[in-house]
Amino acid sequence: MAWERECEESHRRELRRRRDVVASAGSAGIGVPSRFAGVTIHAVDDIGVTASCIERWWSGKPCFLTITGPVGVGKTHVAAGLAHHLWAKGAINCRSFWTAGELIGHLRRCVGQGNVEDVLDAIKRVPVLIIDDLGREAATDWVRSLVLELYDYRYREVLPTVTTTNLTLAELGETFDERLSSRLASGEVITLDGKDRRVT
Ligand SMILES: Nc1ncnc2c1ncn2[C@@H]1O[C@H](COP(=O)(O)OP(=O)(O)OP(=O)(O)O)[C@@H](O)[C@H]1O
Ligand SMILES: [Mg+2]
Repeated sequence: MAWERECEESHRRELRRRRDVVASAGSAGIGVPSRFAGVTIHAVDDIGVTASCIERWWSGKPCFLTITGPVGVGKTHVAAGLAHHLWAKGAINCRSFWTAGELIGHLRRCVGQGNVEDVLDAIKRVPVLIIDDLGREAATDWVRSLVLELYDYRYREVLPTVTTTNLTLAELGETFDERLSSRLASGEVITLDGKDRRVT
């Protein structure tokens, strides 16, 4: 019993530490770019994607959540707030946030090192995966089949997967495969609009 109480107390301490790290804009070490350090789920309320909407997705049996919209409306901002929120809750414990370009570049380097299958397998299985900016990189046959393998695995295993993209689902279907857009459409889709926040 004493051991269990000690574990619970140390877990609570760790969650308090994580909340402080987010509040002080420290690095959570989960791949969120420094520009978005300290962004919380509550900071997204003013663009119409309320914390409660994300909480609703998370409290169901969360699988795919896709955030679409034009340049600069706050898609990465929302994804960063969500990543910090889940990290502070203890649901994320490893690198989980990648831009699609970074992830593809990383896997391409792994091909050269002969360990791409192992690395892809590990990424497929992370408890929460957040892919920022899907659809910007050149969709070669290799990229298409990799993206489809990743998303199909997470769909079949019902693993929480957040995607941001400038493309519509139909355009993602044309770029990659209709099987990708069909799977994304089965989940939650949030479309942001408004002005480019970088220039207003
Ligand atoms: N709700 C918000 N409150 C304050 N700043 C915000 C908010 N949403 C976005 N921003 C800021 O606006 C800028 C653009 O946001 P962001 O990078 O998330 O846009 P995006 O939709 O991902 O753009 P792109 O399509 O180019 O990737 C960033 O500097 C971001 O920090
Ligand atoms: Mg972005």
